Order: sequence, then C-alpha cells, then structure tokens
Amino acid sequence: MSATPRQKAQESSHPADATAMALLTEVRNRIGPVYGSETISLLLYALARRERPRNVLELGTGLGVSASMIAQALKENGAGRIWTIDDGSHWQDRAKLAQAIAPLRGVAGLGSPDVGALDYPGFVSAMTKSLGVGGHLTFLHERLDLGVDVDFTSARWPFLAEPIDMVFLDINHTPEPILDTLYYVLPHAAPCLSLFVDSASTSAVGYLFLETLVERLNRGKVPWRWMQRADVATRRLLVDLVATRRFTLVHLVERLNRAQNSTAWVRIEPADHMPHPPAAMKWV
Ligand SMILES: C[S@@+](CC[C@H](N)C(=O)[O-])C[C@H]1O[C@@H](n2cnc3c(N)ncnc32)[C@H](O)[C@@H]1O
Repeated sequence: MSATPRQKAQESSHPADATAMALLTEVRNRIGPVYGSETISLLLYALARRERPRNVLELGTGLGVSASMIAQALKENGAGRIWTIDDGSHWQDRAKLAQAIAPLRGVAGLGSPDVGALDYPGFVSAMTKSLGVGGHLTFLHERLDLGVDVDFTSARWPFLAEPIDMVFLDINHTPEPILDTLYYVLPHAAPCLSLFVDSASTSAVGYLFLETLVERLNRGKVPWRWMQRADVATRRLLVDLVATRRFTLVHLVERLNRAQNSTAWVRIEPADHMPHPPAAMKWV
C-alpha cells in the first residue's frame, strides 16, 4: 500500500537551512517588533518543524514575519502550505508602510526592496519571493469578517480543500471573533488542531473568556452562539466534535512591557489514549 502524502511528509526529515534562517533572523529583528512577532514566530516555526502540519491558516499577515517563519518550516519539512489572509487595512497609508519596512533597506539577500515604491500586496509578494518561501505560502489579499454569515466553502476559500492543522488568529482577540473562528474552522479541522490567538492572554477579557470557554468545552457544552447560527447537520457535527475532543489552554506570555506581549494557545485533540498528531509510540 503506498504512503499517503501525510505519511510521506512525516517520513522525511531535513536539516534547517542556515542561510535562510540567517536572513529570516534579520527580518525578525528589524520588522518583528512592529507587531511583537520576533519570538512567537520562532515558536511557531519550531512547532511546525516538529508536528509537520500540512495546512496552516493565518488570519492577519501583517508584515509577514510569522507567515514567513512558518513557511520556512514547511519548506524545510518538504511539504505544507500556509494561507495567510490580510485586507491591508493597517497598511493603506503608503508612507506608514514605507516607514515600517525601511529597516529592511540594506539587508543583504533581500534584493534591496524599493520600500518607497511598494504598496501592501506588492510588499508581501516581494518579501515572499526574496525569502524563497513562495512554494509554501499563499497570500490572500482579502477581508475576513466571520461575524456575518460567510461562504466558508472550499470553492470560496481554497485552504478548506484539506483539513486545517494550525490557525493563527491575529486580527482580533475578543470573545466573539474567537468563537466565530472556532465555529468556522472546527468542522474543517484535522483531528488535532492548534489555535493561537495573539494578545488574548494579556487582555483581561481575552484571558478570562478563554479560561471559561475551554472549561465549558471540556464539559461538552457547545457555545450557544454556534448553535443559533448552525443548520441541523452542523449542530450535530459540533456536538460530536466537542464531545470527542480534549481542549487544552496554554497562556504564552512574554515578559516585556508592550502592547502585544502574549499568545493564547488552544490545543484541540482527540480524547484518546495516545497523543496527537500520531507519532511513533514506545509502549513501555
Ligand atoms: C497584528 S497584524 C498581523 C501580524 C502577523 N500575524 C505577524 O505575526 O507578524 C494584523 C493584520 O490584520 C489585518 N486585518 C485586520 N482586520 C482584518 C480583517 N477583517 N480581514 C483581514 N485582515 C485584517 C491588518 O491589516 C493587519 O495587517
């Protein structure tokens, strides 16, 4: 029996690309602080190397620091894609964008981006190309509003063609967007899903909300907001998913006094007798 693509991805191991990592380190150092992404992007890189996700979704590309690091991990893994969505709403002012990316001037290996001439999608595309991660990163220049009814089908959103392994929610960390993201993503998730919510853990509302939500989900309680909008088949699916999963919440805080200094990690995996994603087990 031939191996599935998922099995193949698990079988090959590649060393980190030192040249690419040096360039990415320059990028992280120089523009990572704009969104506080310097170290969370490293953590996401490491997790992507270890768990070998095939299908990663990022809501909010920003300046592409986290997306590039995850894409580099997938490239080194030899498989996988990150789909990163941004409507460019933070970056409509070209002068503001030019100022934010000016530190990239003179970075050897980045091909001297003409920072003053780039609009937002032009910048993301130039970065992706210079970093050599285009084969594993797709940028969607789109607005996403999960609070209203969305056509969340693979015909509209190509990342839904495969189960989603990892989601980085970085456009909002308040209760309703978190609930709405889970509502739309859970039915399309791989058995083991990691949801990261930027800045939620050091927002009093985000922290307390996630603590309550995860505790309730672990008791099999399905959020009322989900049940109100779901059709009968989706309601059944959500009840079934919540009943068969274990939800683990970890607050990843950063001991720095700045606005974006935390990421909440909600790990959703089968309530099983072994860990997920499946890995070679030693039974003694
Ligand atoms: C905090 S930044 C993302 C940072 C990035 N994930 C990182 O770690 O480097 C948030 C981004 O979300 C985008 N954004 C905000 N609301 C959005 C929406 N409704 N749909 C799509 N993008 C949105 C903004 O343009 C901004 O670039």
